[in-house]
Amino acid sequence: MGKVIIVDHPLLKHSLTILRDKNTTTEEFRNHSALVSNIMIIEATRNIKVNTVDIDTPLAPVQGSKVEKSIVLVPVLRAGISMLLPARDMIPWAQVGFIGLERDETTAIAREYYKKFPENLNNKQVLVLDPMLATGGSLVDTIIALKTKNIRSISAVCIVAAPEGIEYLHQKFPDVDVFTAAVDSHLNEVKFIVPGLGDYGDRYFGTD
Ligand code: PRP
Repeated sequence: MGKVIIVDHPLLKHSLTILRDKNTTTEEFRNHSALVSNIMIIEATRNIKVNTVDIDTPLAPVQGSKVEKSIVLVPVLRAGISMLLPARDMIPWAQVGFIGLERDETTAIAREYYKKFPENLNNKQVLVLDPMLATGGSLVDTIIALKTKNIRSISAVCIVAAPEGIEYLHQKFPDVDVFTAAVDSHLNEVKFIVPGLGDYGDRYFGTD
């Protein structure tokens, strides 16, 4: 069964509180979004595969570790872009695939408007980046679009998650782990996470 890993760090809690605050400016929102994403990415990559290597320091031979370059980042447009930039800085060699999904404001059902994945996902470790896991529809659609057959593992990195979305995801894809900073109370009547932080994409891109 997929796990829900609640990432817990004082700096993360601090920045998440600023993201939640309705009085936070776009500039502050972007800065703290990057901080939160950095910490989340570090945690989500804790168990990625590493290989032992023999190298020489200027003084002596030593055994070290190098990560296997099998990570594929999949930001869900738009809001996932906010997590791609910090992730790219930490994993500069990672391949990147994109999917564009937009929830209908009335039905909350996501519509796909863009998709471009690396051709060969065989044996890759995919990290889906989407700050909000609400109904889970966008995440489930992303995983379906990835055609999971030969992928080694898929994990989702979501800053705030709703219990309803986690349940739906694990009904459909029981093996997918979710890294999140918070599991909130519930979804409201228009499928927004409560207390949540509002519309992440609008707040990050200043389109409110
Ligand atoms: C939001 C959010 C997630 C999705 C979560 O995106 O960024 O992608 O909704 O909702 P779900 O779990 O119910 O599918 P939105 O569709 O508002 O698009 P945006 O990123 O362009 O703002």
